[in-house]
Amino acid sequence: MIKLTVNGEPRTLDASPDMPLLWAIRDVLGLTGTKFGCGKGLCGSCTIHLQGRAVRSCVTPLAAAAGQSLTTIEGLMRDEDSRALREAWTEGDVPQCGYCQPGQLMSAAAFLRDNPKPSDEEIRAGTRNLCRCGTYQRIFGAIKRASGQGEWI
Ligand code: FES
Repeated sequence: MIKLTVNGEPRTLDASPDMPLLWAIRDVLGLTGTKFGCGKGLCGSCTIHLQGRAVRSCVTPLAAAAGQSLTTIEGLMRDEDSRALREAWTEGDVPQCGYCQPGQLMSAAAFLRDNPKPSDEEIRAGTRNLCRCGTYQRIFGAIKRASGQGEWI
């Protein structure tokens, strides 16, 4: 049994400690907002927050989350601190196909928490998740707008 906190609620999971955290989130907890992309820690589609840090859940074992606090996109959507980011994402009409966007939002939220007023170069360098539709300019713009620093030019 693995005990952890998921989106603010205590949970106990009857699953192997070696199970990838992404599997536990999607298949055991039924939280399907977190997406499987590469399964190798490369694309970022599976990004969640563990103790407030962005981590790639496909390459993180469930055991690493024992006793920890985990936030998924479902939790971020209810988080008042992330309201400006969510609104900037909507205003900027960021998603195209949308598949990578939960991971993009989780990464952007952690990035802005660590760096609330990033420069354009820091936004570019801090956006490491892949998007096959190539929505990067809109992602950069939404992060800049959410930081209260105007529009991306
Ligand atoms: Fe985890 Fe690609 S699915 S990084």
